[in-house]
Amino acid sequence: MRGAGQYNQYGQAAHARHPAASDGRLLRSPAPPGVSSSRPGTAARTIPLSRPYLGESEAREVLEVLRSRHLSLGPVVPRFEGMFAERVGAPYAAAVSSGTSGLHLACRIAGIGPDDEVITSPYSFVASANCFMYEGAHPVFADIDAGTFNLDPAAVEAAVTPKTRAIMAVDIFGYPCELDELRAIADRHGLAFIEDSCEALGAEYKRRKIGSHGHMAVFAFYPNKQMTTGEGGIVATGSAEELELLVSLRNQGRADTDGWLDHSRFGFNYRLSDIHAAIGVAQLERLDEILAMRAAAAERYAGLLDGVDGVSTLLADDANHRRSWFVYVVKLASGIDRDRVITVLEDQGIQSRPYLPCIHLQTYMRERYGFREWMFPVAEETSRKTLALPFHSAIDPEDQERVVDALRSAIA
Ligand SMILES: Cc1ncc(COP(=O)(O)O)c(C=O)c1O
Repeated sequence: MRGAGQYNQYGQAAHARHPAASDGRLLRSPAPPGVSSSRPGTAARTIPLSRPYLGESEAREVLEVLRSRHLSLGPVVPRFEGMFAERVGAPYAAAVSSGTSGLHLACRIAGIGPDDEVITSPYSFVASANCFMYEGAHPVFADIDAGTFNLDPAAVEAAVTPKTRAIMAVDIFGYPCELDELRAIADRHGLAFIEDSCEALGAEYKRRKIGSHGHMAVFAFYPNKQMTTGEGGIVATGSAEELELLVSLRNQGRADTDGWLDHSRFGFNYRLSDIHAAIGVAQLERLDEILAMRAAAAERYAGLLDGVDGVSTLLADDANHRRSWFVYVVKLASGIDRDRVITVLEDQGIQSRPYLPCIHLQTYMRERYGFREWMFPVAEETSRKTLALPFHSAIDPEDQERVVDALRSAIA
């Protein structure tokens, strides 16, 4: 990656200037801060890695909240939660300030504590491991399957020790993990089971939506996700008791029965505001459209990439797994210099990023636990070769052609 400094999850400098909208209309100015829509000095438009899909209804819903003066702990959060729960087929859902805070609360509720071990995937975003480290637990990584890029159940079984307290499964790139096998391991060893579904809204396992399988499943709404609330997350659960704890813990440990400034338990401020929830309400109303647009864009990429030597695409769906398209990641063959490909694309105004770096090889993980290269060979081999191409709900088919043409010539 070129340059230094802060990068957001679009892989862009977090403080990059937002180009002014040429027509002055907010929603017609499609790029969020850090996602440039023009590239001074070059003829070709920049094709951004990601971009949220927003319409006028998001603005209307937000404006209504602003006019109501009820910006937090108001009626829109429960409305959003009800809509979300219904959408994923979960009995309950509790909105939170981010996917990470939702994962953290799930860990707290699962009873994960100091010196426990939690098994998770090394091929994920850092929050999948950070969430239980906040509680003093230690990460035990198990290698992934070379096809799904999700936890390999056999590796998880082999990683269980007397200290293991939980399995944190991840649905990476929106592809459902092996829920039945992983939950069977958890049951056999008396472990808690939490699903990091932050990338998987709309995915299905064995024809049932992710989020509807009973255990806590956590979703995230950062602007590069299928749908966004700006920042935000939600925990879906089948347990009324877990819901009660989630609602209390996100609100500084206050219980429904507590009076003004009485706190039954030690909690956090992980609330989602009604302003954010209002964006979520509008996004949920267009979620079917969003998911269909993303699936169509993925299919277009697959068609364009068919026959491009040295580039393989993500695993196709089967009877038990239905992916929800979050990112468009390709795997480059051995011998292709990924950094060079990124630079060649960047020179043509096309953003791409190495995706994902392994969690155990992050500096703080190496320093704290002594993790080294090749401890999880499938994850590392995958991580060295995978590349995220520009992908979002409304990506222009012509831009996709430009991306694939540039990729083809970059690897020729
Ligand atoms: C797999 C995974 N887990 C957790 C998170 C954390 O979500 P958030 O950024 O909303 O805290 C993300 C978001 O990028 C993610 O992709």
